[in-house]
Amino acid sequence: MASRLAAYHTLFGSYVKRYLKELLPGQMRAMAALKAAHSQRVRSLMKELGMAAGLDPHMLMLAEIAGLFHDIGRFEQLRRFGTFVDRISVNHALLSAETVLEEGFISDLSEADCRVVVAAIRRHNMKQVPPARDFREAMLVLMLRDADKLDIWQVFHNHYRSGHKGADDDTLELGMPDTPGITRAVASAIMGCNVVDLSDVHNRNDLALARLAWIFDINFMRSLEIVRERGFIPALAAHLPEFEQKAEIFAHARRWLDDTIAHGDTPC
Ligand SMILES: [Fe+2]
Repeated sequence: MASRLAAYHTLFGSYVKRYLKELLPGQMRAMAALKAAHSQRVRSLMKELGMAAGLDPHMLMLAEIAGLFHDIGRFEQLRRFGTFVDRISVNHALLSAETVLEEGFISDLSEADCRVVVAAIRRHNMKQVPPARDFREAMLVLMLRDADKLDIWQVFHNHYRSGHKGADDDTLELGMPDTPGITRAVASAIMGCNVVDLSDVHNRNDLALARLAWIFDINFMRSLEIVRERGFIPALAAHLPEFEQKAEIFAHARRWLDDTIAHGDTPC
């Protein structure tokens, strides 16, 4: 299994290298390198979540493959449109699935295995996921959605801790303005234990809270434990400026996290 995975790493590495060395203009190569590193970390998180969920070695391999290739369309997205913002370019999850198939990255997998890997990649960024065909598809889709969120939280966590040195604020903040306060609908969503609708996000504080609200869309207990172990929520609270309801929102999110980990379910 390890040697099979090594072959996928080679395919991933040579594909990405072409963008980093030839296909992308110089100023975009650092952005692409960040996505390559993100893909590797998501692969590693897929392994961790898969092991915690007791997956067999074959499913663990598929989980790692889905993690590794889940954002492979990001490189072509950047080359064609010069941005990672889907709403002004292309749905990167669909482009990633298309790229995986067109490049033949997983052509050695059986049709059934290929289907679950592609379903996970296509659905990793959907607001709501359609019903899964079977247990394997459900597992990979739900794990990939968690693993992606966990690494995005980690990226922001590092960004805040570094004092924003060396990273492109505007890219990470999706071009949102750095204005004071928050939008009322964002606070209401969190207090009701719901994810935030992106149409309600109007500035960087809203965007940070929308990421905080991802905890309500997490599928595996191990993922919530990682959120707590890595201290994502207190670090975010420490980073954000004061705004109305800030203490209440963060206390609610921390209590929800602690109660869910302790009891398994928490009525909101
Ligand atoms: Fe993605």
